[in-house]
Amino acid sequence: MTHEERVDLISSRKLEHLQLALHGDAESDLGLNWNEVRLVHNCLPEMDLADVDLQTDFLGQTVSAPIWITGMTGGHERAARINRRLAVAAERHGLAMGLGSQRAGLFDPDLMATYRVARDVAPHAVLVANIGAPQLVPQSDAPALELHDIRAIVESVEAQALAIHLNFLQEMVQPEGDRNARGVLEAIGEVVRSVGVPVMAKETGAGISREQARRLQQVGVAAIDVGGAGGTSMVKIEGAREGQRSNGHVSMAEAFGRWGIPTTASILETRHCGVPVIATGGVRSGVDAARAIALGAAAVGVGLPFLMAADAGEAELDLVIQQFITELRRALFLTGSRTPEELQGQGAVVLGDLSTWKKQRGL
Ligand SMILES: Cc1cc2nc3c(=O)[nH]c(=O)nc-3n(C[C@H](O)[C@H](O)[C@H](O)COP(=O)(O)O)c2cc1C
Repeated sequence: MTHEERVDLISSRKLEHLQLALHGDAESDLGLNWNEVRLVHNCLPEMDLADVDLQTDFLGQTVSAPIWITGMTGGHERAARINRRLAVAAERHGLAMGLGSQRAGLFDPDLMATYRVARDVAPHAVLVANIGAPQLVPQSDAPALELHDIRAIVESVEAQALAIHLNFLQEMVQPEGDRNARGVLEAIGEVVRSVGVPVMAKETGAGISREQARRLQQVGVAAIDVGGAGGTSMVKIEGAREGQRSNGHVSMAEAFGRWGIPTTASILETRHCGVPVIATGGVRSGVDAARAIALGAAAVGVGLPFLMAADAGEAELDLVIQQFITELRRALFLTGSRTPEELQGQGAVVLGDLSTWKKQRGL
């Protein structure tokens, strides 16, 4: 494959992912039963709603609320428009924001602008650069990225942190997926030691277990985003791409459609791993965010709902973000928590399947 063909393939795949997420059926069939996480109501909160302070430390930076706009897009003109809107909102609301995988920008400097736009419109926002773990090791058709490439990704958007995404489930169902995971943990450690900003390890829909969280902590990651199953499903998105190419034949995506550790379970798995845990995957309201925090997360990530709102327009995105923040603030009030830290790991009763998971895994 020539360099130009590779750039075209990555860029058009980014556009397909975006379109299928926005207009297809991208939510996991697993569903996330947030009802299994019950917050204990406090009938005497003894504070004014205005006393609730959502400010949080996020990878060493202060953000206005423990909700980050997860890394999703870039690498295409349409993605640039969405990144611009997401970044304007991040700046306005004081939230951290992630970029989508920046590999396309490395291969084609013209595409770098589709990520850089975020920094241009959000000079003060906490931005998190993004690269895939499979790119840190050699693949059958591509060498591993060099450390200077990773630094370039971070510098290109003046990011305060780097997310390394773990997406081997997606790679297994994607026809052209990267199949080599050998050496990834060591490569993450090398990036941690040399990149100069905190590194977050981030799953993308299959969750992180207690054992792997500990290994990631041991190589020095500053935070873990559990990226659990139950929200946006990259398997479904890949299944739709496969279906479009093969007359509806989607065997891999069907076989792996329910794969993964649900987000709620992954919070319980990772919460004592020694670094802050961020809960992404199916967080669909500020009340869900409060539940995730009560289970032990330090913050939550929201992807698809913000992506859809950004696609609809700046005003729509503003409204959706404001709604999340308002709900979270009120949920904190109703649990008698002045800050997210007061709620963190406290006051959640776990029912049903989640309770079974917790017991069987000894969490
Ligand atoms: C269109 C789309 C593209 C994505 N691309 C990336 C990516 O490049 N890198 C990454 O770390 N995560 C990526 N994600 C995963 C999100 O960051 C997030 O983990 C996922 O959407 C789950 O959150 P949600 O259920 O709130 O959408 C992508 C998600 C979507 C919807």
